[in-house]
Amino acid sequence: MSVEHGVWHAPGRVNLIGEHTDYNDGLVLPFALPQGITAEAARRDDGVLELHSGGQTEIVPLEGLRPGSVKGWAAYVAGVAGALGEAGHPVGGATLRFTSDLPAGSGLSSSAALECVTAVALNDMYDLGLSAKELVPVAQRAENAYAGVPTGVLDQSASLLCTAEHALLLDVRSGLSSQIPLELGGFRILIVDTNARHALGDGKYGERRAQCEEAARQLGVASLRDVKNLGEALSRLKDPVLRRRVKHVVTENHRVEATVGLLKAGAIAEVGALLNASHLSLRDDYEVSWPEADAAVEAAVRAGARGGRMVGGGFGGSVIILARADTLDTIREAITTRFTTSSWPTPDYLIATAAPGAHRLS
Ligand code: GLA
Repeated sequence: MSVEHGVWHAPGRVNLIGEHTDYNDGLVLPFALPQGITAEAARRDDGVLELHSGGQTEIVPLEGLRPGSVKGWAAYVAGVAGALGEAGHPVGGATLRFTSDLPAGSGLSSSAALECVTAVALNDMYDLGLSAKELVPVAQRAENAYAGVPTGVLDQSASLLCTAEHALLLDVRSGLSSQIPLELGGFRILIVDTNARHALGDGKYGERRAQCEEAARQLGVASLRDVKNLGEALSRLKDPVLRRRVKHVVTENHRVEATVGLLKAGAIAEVGALLNASHLSLRDDYEVSWPEADAAVEAAVRAGARGGRMVGGGFGGSVIILARADTLDTIREAITTRFTTSSWPTPDYLIATAAPGAHRLS
């Protein structure tokens, strides 16, 4: 049954492990956060999107909407309407008022949350009957084509498909996913927003993607997911940069599998070592980390954390730290002190819990 108006919510995400694997047909293991974007929405029949966020208003006529025709944050929203139309589900107008408790640029997927909250609201208001899984490519198309950011499918999958108290194991190649219970016991996952800001659109993300595609081409495989023997693949690549990129992607997929094995075995503490390995791989082989992230992970581990790593695309944003609940105060203090020493702004801290994916609130 279609609804005239309502309130919808879509979460941000933390990727526990499996970074820069999604566009290589690999494995990811995100969970959704309680924080996200809420939209108070109403249908309207004049073919216009009226968008409000943070004191700004954007009016977007749906007629003539095409990739590139809308600029700025409104492109993420209008892109969803555009992508629905392209997929054979045209929608009329809507008024959408967005509020967010997810800091933009923190690497916790505020843009995917914006797309996904729009997708679930339009899906319900226009009675499109699309499943959360069917909305994933719609939201991704909004980001890739309409906002012009060449991301993979990790963030939109997390925002739409995650469930409370679980991490989502997604195999991007097959599209199959399963819910893995995230039982932390006496441990916590601390998010450290390093307050160093990133822009995925600045080219470095696209450059990494292109390097992976070039390595796959040289190796004669469809994607780096098909590399079966790392040693053999590395010996065939002449360019040391491509060798490092391949090493990260192949080993990161194995770290996702190992993490799932440990979670199923109730061995959360041991996941820390895999987070550390992932961070070093992203820092040294994939070269997407940033000084504040390296310092935060290092300070946390020295202060007793089991492990930690940067999350998201890199070049700014957040870090996650796995630590015993009773060590968190010491760890936060150690990180803040480390930041003060370098005259960096104090980071922001958040304890991550696994929340449900996008849904209607009322
Ligand atoms: C960003 C992108 C995702 C993914 C990550 C890296 O968050 O939006 O698709 O590629 O970077 O894992």
